[in-house]
Amino acid sequence: MAESSVQQQVQAFYNAVGWKQIGPGVYQNARYEDLRPVSRPYVHACHVRFGGHLPATGRLFLDAGSGPIQYPEYLEYSRGFKRRVCLDISRLALVEARQRIGEHGSFVVGDIARLPFRSETFDGAATLHTIHHLPAGEQESAFADLVRCLAPGGRVGAVYSWGERSGIVRLTRPLVWAAERARSLLRSMRPRGRASAAPAGEAAALLQSPGSFTYKHDYGWAASHLARLGEVRIVVWRSVSTAMLRSLVHPLLLGRQGLRVLFFLENLAPRFFGRHGAYSTILITKPGAGPLAPAGERR
Ligand SMILES: C[S@@+](CC[C@H](N)C(=O)[O-])C[C@H]1O[C@@H](n2cnc3c(N)ncnc32)[C@H](O)[C@@H]1O
Repeated sequence: MAESSVQQQVQAFYNAVGWKQIGPGVYQNARYEDLRPVSRPYVHACHVRFGGHLPATGRLFLDAGSGPIQYPEYLEYSRGFKRRVCLDISRLALVEARQRIGEHGSFVVGDIARLPFRSETFDGAATLHTIHHLPAGEQESAFADLVRCLAPGGRVGAVYSWGERSGIVRLTRPLVWAAERARSLLRSMRPRGRASAAPAGEAAALLQSPGSFTYKHDYGWAASHLARLGEVRIVVWRSVSTAMLRSLVHPLLLGRQGLRVLFFLENLAPRFFGRHGAYSTILITKPGAGPLAPAGERR
């Protein structure tokens, strides 16, 4: 099943660490998200925007690298489908996912680089934050395999991070660094003995665990290597990274309002922010007649 050593390492990580709960309904993996109230409306709006790019209805929907379907917005992506097939390399992820969607789901332990499905099986598909866990040389064929599994006219939406190759991430790195320094300085000046909200015990140990393998290609790679697979559009998922949110967005510094403006700008220029921002949405529509209109275009 997990054939290469990279996949084996990633599988072991998610079974032992990533999908362990560090609080009620909160996974260790949430350390990669900004869950503060000030960022919540922006993060929520980005999840909803992604759903608007996916086909709204159909028979089978593939969620490749589903994890436990950790955010409520994710449930909406397959709302208009008969069934959501969750594929993940982590068995624990699927045990958790089953608790969230029960009868609506089918659950397959498998490798996104070798999808165990017949061609043209799915009317729609999504894969969020997963393809970057594959070795660099396997990512193009994983996209191709997703398209193989789509019915003609079907569409896959992939959330992909450019990581340090994102222009916006690189440009703001000094700011993020300075804000993090200032924050740790302020923390060190707080009176000792104040109750800490930080998790303790096993949860603290899980949070300290090193992450798993990732490789993030740049925009140029995606634009040139994926074009052969169908009609490809690269738009924004979220132009700021979690580190940027945590260090630069503060409730007392008009953080919420700033994010509202950013979201507005992202919608004005989705391709620009998809290219230069931290995370993109890569949409690939398989050639052929298809009855499916994306949810966002049907409203
Ligand atoms: C960062 S999590 C994202 C989970 C979910 N898509 C989300 O956005 O919350 C990555 C998920 O991909 C799964 N994964 C990593 N490599 C995989 C592979 N080669 N095949 C299938 N799933 C994989 C992991 O087990 C994990 O559940």
